[in-house]
Amino acid sequence: MNAVGTGAPLAERARAAIPGGVNSGQRSVPGITDLVVARAEGARFFDTEGRAYTDYHAAFGPQLLGHNDPDVSAAVAAVIREVDLCGVGVTPGEIELAERLIELVPSFEQVLLTSTGSEATFHALRLSRAVTGRRLVVKFQGCYHGWHDAVSLNVISAEDALNRPDPISAGILPEVLESTVVLPFNDAEAVRRLFADHGDQIAGVIVEPVPHNIGCVLPTDEFLITLREQTTQHGAILIFDEVITGFRHALGGWQEISGITPDLTTLGKAFANGFPLGAIGGRADLMQQFSSRPGGSAFFAGTYNGAPVVVAAALATLTKLTEQPVHEHTFRLGELARAGLREVFAELDLPAVVTGYGSIFVSYFMPGPAPRTYSDLLANRADLFVGYRRKLIERGIFELPLNLKRSHISYAHTESDIEQLIDGTRDAVRAALSETTELGAGASTMGGLVRES
Ligand SMILES: Cc1ncc(COP(=O)(O)O)c(C=O)c1O
Repeated sequence: MNAVGTGAPLAERARAAIPGGVNSGQRSVPGITDLVVARAEGARFFDTEGRAYTDYHAAFGPQLLGHNDPDVSAAVAAVIREVDLCGVGVTPGEIELAERLIELVPSFEQVLLTSTGSEATFHALRLSRAVTGRRLVVKFQGCYHGWHDAVSLNVISAEDALNRPDPISAGILPEVLESTVVLPFNDAEAVRRLFADHGDQIAGVIVEPVPHNIGCVLPTDEFLITLREQTTQHGAILIFDEVITGFRHALGGWQEISGITPDLTTLGKAFANGFPLGAIGGRADLMQQFSSRPGGSAFFAGTYNGAPVVVAAALATLTKLTEQPVHEHTFRLGELARAGLREVFAELDLPAVVTGYGSIFVSYFMPGPAPRTYSDLLANRADLFVGYRRKLIERGIFELPLNLKRSHISYAHTESDIEQLIDGTRDAVRAALSETTELGAGASTMGGLVRES
């Protein structure tokens, strides 16, 4: 029983009934306290006060086609009239989706569906341990792979928490944290050294091939090649977590772009355009170890796996991604945005690195060159990164005001949206600069640093 009545403002009712008033720790954003979203369409969402926001947050990335894409919605509406979840056997949609994924993603010989990216990465790591009989897994500082214990460490760490286990949650057993080795991203030498010393204990290596949970840090060829070579040489499983890069950067993900084929790949976000879907796929000899095959030793389950509504959304999304110039459009707007933002920061004489890939962009407030590893990002001015985004929101443009978060362009955004983004950014940065200068800041504050998406 709570004391807030149904006549109270919605946000207040939310806080009374839901811890923090939102359904994810990642939606608990300082400065955004009373946002109740009423509607979303195309490149925009609308709050219950009638305000419109041009959306570059895109719910942390799924809506590559834009909100409420009409073709995806129509496919969902059609399937709802035919079949819902039966929890036995398989539906024709699941078969078609699996076959299409295998055609598109280079590492996929077989694939299983989950409801979220976290489940997919969980299963990938457990399978790695099941098939190798080894204990250790490896992740990289700055990469996020979901909320489960084995990967809940060293995402956005403060400087003094680098080079030691830095859990993002209380309640994780120390022995679990100790079983995950964290290395710096793009450090091929550190990978070689770890394998030389402990190669026979490493079950798997999981990596965001482009760590987008800290904006955008592009991998060197040497780094990805080394991961492939060392895991192969030492019998460990290489897992590409393509929950963000999959479909958004190319239909075959970063593995298609880089030419490096992992053993297992996890997917999520963009392939169902906002419907809850994840996938794990890869080498058939590994996938055959899941318990969906009788006798498979790695237990695999999930009441909602392959739910027809979500599968229909994915099939419609893949059809549109394949048949329409989605990548051409979003990549062109991405280039326009990055070029325009670079000009703005040059005009303002502000040290900034505008980077990204394709439809993703991010502006770090630090001198160049573009970051290659997490510790490079400690030079970013978090006060300005968050501050200008708060000012942008006042101007009806939504980039998430959390340090190091990336922004996304969808098929529904237009050139005129990007022009507004560039003009809005100029105004917002000016306004934020005048406030940080008034505060005598100038220096980097680490406020909001310990966050991940
Ligand atoms: C790279 C990556 N992997 C895994 C996940 C977890 O996915 P989900 O939030 O669907 O559980 C995320 C979520 O942001 C992600 O960015």
